[in-house]
Amino acid sequence: MLTVDVLKNGYAPKSIDPSLDLFAEIARLKKEKNAIILAHYYQDSDIQDIADYIGDSLGLSQQAAKTKADVIVFAGVHFMAETAKILCPDKKVLLPDLRAGCSLAESCPADRFELFKNAHPDHIVISYINCTAEIKALTDIICTSSNAVQIVESLPKNQKIIFAPDKNLGRWVMQKTGRDMVLWDGACMVHEIFSREKILRLQQRYPNALLIAHPECEQPVLELADFIGSTTALLNFAIKSDKKEFIVATESGILHQMSKSAPDKTFIPAPPNNSCACNDCPHMKLNTLEKVYLCLLQETPELLMEEELRRKAETPIRRMLEISATLGL
Ligand code: 13P
Ligand code: SF4
Repeated sequence: MLTVDVLKNGYAPKSIDPSLDLFAEIARLKKEKNAIILAHYYQDSDIQDIADYIGDSLGLSQQAAKTKADVIVFAGVHFMAETAKILCPDKKVLLPDLRAGCSLAESCPADRFELFKNAHPDHIVISYINCTAEIKALTDIICTSSNAVQIVESLPKNQKIIFAPDKNLGRWVMQKTGRDMVLWDGACMVHEIFSREKILRLQQRYPNALLIAHPECEQPVLELADFIGSTTALLNFAIKSDKKEFIVATESGILHQMSKSAPDKTFIPAPPNNSCACNDCPHMKLNTLEKVYLCLLQETPELLMEEELRRKAETPIRRMLEISATLGL
């Protein structure tokens, strides 16, 4: 039996009937409401398994931009749902847990970033999609880890660039492109936690394993990597490679798709520098199958945005989508 409590932003059930088949109920509600579930690879396995589309930040924004659904359940974090709302203002965008934030987005507050931007008046601003709508509104072109290199390369060689908010991705892009950029000093708490020493020890235990890493990792870890790329790029690399063992330096949720797509291969999560499960993103993991069900049922929590901010934030995202489409990304 479902019991409900009135909360500030809607109705929040105290408990869900344990005999309810949540997979069947979610499928029923999706049909009834013409809803789509978009999920990032860092979500819980159950959420990945009921999603209509699973992908990285670029793929998810491309799907959001073209969906015909009336309701988008965004199984990811706040900046991702915000991006969907910016691209689809007429659709209802639901985030299973509104508290699902992002340490990287938080590392770049808009007031401080505006001062930083004003101090470099002849620079173009490229921002990683992992930022707030306010930062997007101060940005010229958005990028993701899938297209950051190509977006930077699409600009003239003498163009001065500010890259925000991830300094690790920014440094990697500088190395790949040979371009100098002014970097904002931000980082992701999950990708900064991997231990180079423990990875070196793991490589001794698994001498045939390849280390594959997300560019949000720090330089000492990236130096060891056999392949660096976005979550989708890491997944595709692992599927296509003729190697059988991989040490994976990114959030642990991606291992579910890797094991599903290449069941004959072994995927080992890269160890953090302490004994906690720190390569689980605490923000991503706030979403649960129960919360996906409840948000579809109650159509809350809903992502809402002031129209002026939405319009300002839309332009740099559309630029990214246009450049990506031209480059076939
Ligand atoms: P991608 O989705 O671009 O691989 O980035 C990973 C990430 O940190 C998302 O929060
Ligand atoms: Fe943000 Fe890092 Fe979590 Fe991605 S993994 S949502 S960048 S805190």
